[in-house]
Amino acid sequence: MRIKYFGHSAFLIEDLLIDPFIEHNPHCKIKAKDIKCNIICITHDHGDHLGDGFEIAKNNNAVIVAIYELSQLAQKNGLKSEGMNIGGWITAGDWRIKMTEALHSSQGHSAGFILHNTKVNKKIYHAGDTGLFGDMKLIGNEGIDIAMLPIGDRYTMGIADALKAVEFIRPKMVIPIHYNTFPIITADPEDFRKNCPVNTVIFQANEEKDL
Ligand code: NI
Ligand code: MN
Repeated sequence: MRIKYFGHSAFLIEDLLIDPFIEHNPHCKIKAKDIKCNIICITHDHGDHLGDGFEIAKNNNAVIVAIYELSQLAQKNGLKSEGMNIGGWITAGDWRIKMTEALHSSQGHSAGFILHNTKVNKKIYHAGDTGLFGDMKLIGNEGIDIAMLPIGDRYTMGIADALKAVEFIRPKMVIPIHYNTFPIITADPEDFRKNCPVNTVIFQANEEKDL
């Protein structure tokens, strides 16, 4: 799968964009108007995750995938949306998408996603913003290929808890996210990598890889 990282928690994975914090993201060099996608997953309504999602959805006639209340807001803004909630699966294009729990505040309820690309049969778990929780073990039971986990501390798990999350999720690969965007979430991904029992792939912002 072609994966492009914009910094923070924002990725374009093939035609699926998640947590598109673009214009106000200090590390992102691309403009919102230049992003092409069909599906936009939003973990929660904080500005560093919803970001430019509505504008990009409008530009691409893309579908917003979000928790029910946020999907309603997207519809009120004239956008296509798929509302869902914790525990449910939907199908969108080449993807099956499950919404998972996240321990984090927001106006609505925060979530994570399991993104199953049915074309290549790979499952990505994007944790969104979250603290560590024991039911990550159940997420691991889904068979996760790539886990995108926050390590920046203060608002989410720090490195120590993210390493416990890896034990629970048992992914084949980890991509650390949600760090170094701002000085208050400074973390060294190499500290995470050297203690992580599975392959850790560190993206630079604006970097693209085939995984
Ligand atoms: Ni948040
Ligand atoms: Mn955040």
